[in-house]
Amino acid sequence: MIARRVAETADLVTVALDQLLPRAEGPEQRLMEAMRYAALGPGKRLRPFFAMEAARLFDVEERPVLRAACALELIHTYSLVHDDLPAMDDDDMRRGRPTVHKAYDEAVAILVGDALQTAAFEIMAHPDTHEDPHVRSELVRRLARASGAQGMVGGQMIDLLGVRDDLGAAARMQRMKTGALIAFSFEIPLIIAGAPENERQALMNFAQDIGLAYQIVDDLLDAEGDEDLLGKAAQKDVAKGKANFVTLLGVGAAKERVELLADQARRRLDPFGEDARYLRDSVDFVLKRRA
Ligand code: IPE
Ligand code: IPE
Ligand code: MG
Ligand code: MG
Ligand code: MG
Repeated sequence: MIARRVAETADLVTVALDQLLPRAEGPEQRLMEAMRYAALGPGKRLRPFFAMEAARLFDVEERPVLRAACALELIHTYSLVHDDLPAMDDDDMRRGRPTVHKAYDEAVAILVGDALQTAAFEIMAHPDTHEDPHVRSELVRRLARASGAQGMVGGQMIDLLGVRDDLGAAARMQRMKTGALIAFSFEIPLIIAGAPENERQALMNFAQDIGLAYQIVDDLLDAEGDEDLLGKAAQKDVAKGKANFVTLLGVGAAKERVELLADQARRRLDPFGEDARYLRDSVDFVLKRRA
């Protein structure tokens, strides 16, 4: 079952992150403790799952992909720590536990985000990630691009400014805010494998469809999800007057859009045949998730 496979990868990633993150020691140990609190919590590790499963389509070693996926997960974690801050979404709960600024304080949460981000690049650039420095620098460059002003951070800016009644603007925000990091999870094996153009294109098309479906589901869960299962507050977007795919399309049309994207995403994997069966199943995981 796909949920079990996702959970198994999540465990692998959490063990690897535990080894990669600095131990809490010295006068700055409160920072390390809070970094570990943020990163070792019960996340789905969906981006690492995509990277690891996509890597199975190519003849690549697991270790480089796992390390690169851990770096990506640390960027994702930092984005959540900062996203939850009072100056941004002002959330008290994340992954079923108090957010970092609640468990510690705001200044610590800002530093945790800063330090998780640099830890990610330190891991990515380390020779243990890949023996070829060109591969490492390409991984670093693409991760920086996906997470910076033209990617996740730029998308957060658009989110804060607020898109109003414009689906095109919402789609652009999604591509940057969450789509770019999800797409990078597929770039990891593509870069490491040096995959041919047709396979690269098929996988990047899959990444776009699954990324968009993922965000619409996030918006649906915000509208109708169960806070206990979600581990975070629901109904936040409407309360904050934020437009998202559900406020723009309505629940019914948003669900239809997700189904269409799901069918399209599965077809994108046709060139990979049976090898892509778990990635194909991950479409259902994204659609049916309650957390
Ligand atoms: C939540 O991300 C926030 C968005 C980027 C939409 P995830 O749904 O991947 O959250 P975790 O990592 O499993 O907690
Ligand atoms: C968060 O989006 C996106 C990033 C952190 C880049 P949301 O604000 O919708 O995520 P949740 O709903 O708080 O998890
Ligand atoms: Mg937000
Ligand atoms: Mg938020
Ligand atoms: Mg949300």
